[in-house]
Amino acid sequence: MGSNGAVADTNYRENKTIETHDQYLQEGVRHLCERGLTRVPTKYILPKEERPNSAMGGETTILKLPVIDFTRLQDSSSRSQTLNSLAKACEEFGIFQLINHGIKDEVISTMTDVSKRFFDLPFEERSKYMSNDIASPARYGTSFNQNNDAVFCWRDFLKLSCNPLSDSVPFWPSSPVDLRETVVNYSKSTNFLYLMMMEAVLESLGLMKTTKSSSTEKIDTKTSSLEEFEDGSQLIVVNCYPACPEPELTLGMPPHSDYGILTLLLQDQVEGLQIQHQGKWVTVEPLPNSFIVNVGDHLEIFSNGRYKSVLHRVVVNSSKSRISVASLHSLPFDAVVRPSPKLVDEANPTRYRDTDFANFLEYIASCDHQTKSKSFLESRKLTD
Ligand code: OGA
Ligand code: NI
Repeated sequence: MGSNGAVADTNYRENKTIETHDQYLQEGVRHLCERGLTRVPTKYILPKEERPNSAMGGETTILKLPVIDFTRLQDSSSRSQTLNSLAKACEEFGIFQLINHGIKDEVISTMTDVSKRFFDLPFEERSKYMSNDIASPARYGTSFNQNNDAVFCWRDFLKLSCNPLSDSVPFWPSSPVDLRETVVNYSKSTNFLYLMMMEAVLESLGLMKTTKSSSTEKIDTKTSSLEEFEDGSQLIVVNCYPACPEPELTLGMPPHSDYGILTLLLQDQVEGLQIQHQGKWVTVEPLPNSFIVNVGDHLEIFSNGRYKSVLHRVVVNSSKSRISVASLHSLPFDAVVRPSPKLVDEANPTRYRDTDFANFLEYIASCDHQTKSKSFLESRKLTD
């Protein structure tokens, strides 16, 4: 456990911690820990009301998320019932666990394994990929929005863009030697699963009908087709949350919603992800061999508010380091995201402004504080 004194006197803290010049902070938490850190540097200490235990008050509750069984979605006798469960999960939670997803164990275990080995590399090797350029196909960094965060988060990351793979892969880390091949396999598998899930999402919104032969047919001109989603953007984010000496003072990731359509999250068996549900922060119980799938802002917009992007954050712990891999899927970067015309009528007017990836980047760059809510989505809302 961390110290009892939640807020230590700053001088004492600075004396007791290693020197925490700005340059060290930019090098990430893993590197700080490697230097033998025993207290959380001031830069990571959240104001009291934003700390994990005080944020919503009270004990943390463990939440069992809705579970969607992928094999039941693929089976015509159980598909429609499972689509109803999917719709309910997206409306009420904005997140669910996906089991029996069909991705081979080996693809998943090698991805987790290579992620760990990447963060175990000497700092000099990892640091080759440090960059402020958000367009870079491989980017190693720390915190949430490193350039703007007033308080840093207890997280390092490796972001690998997959658009298209052939152009991006040569820029990905060459060490560990099997990283590129492993992430390529993983990204192809998750992209396929994403498309299968989008087919189900479109059908659950009444925008597409899958026939028994599993080919798709259009109902009318306002319906969507999976093609719109096929050449979308995919970003793989490997997150590393080292064990933290004072976890009650900081967060691994601040409250945020993901910008895209769906995120497929792989977490190891260490708890850390929390979602806001019915006004409270609740911990998501890790379920072996499953993906956490969450609705992103673009799907909330596309569904004209019927499916809700989920507000989530990550808490860290004092004994275990945690690794997660998020695969963020959306439309192509230059596509405009807008409510599907079929979901808009007089009774249900458009609730969001059209948006594209450029709007999002502008928004992030202009934030002078870390994103603490679904604030980007709020900025796209038309008045009710
Ligand atoms: C993310 C995210 C959660 C986690 O990468 O956007 O929310 O558990 N990750 O790492
Ligand atoms: Ni997220």
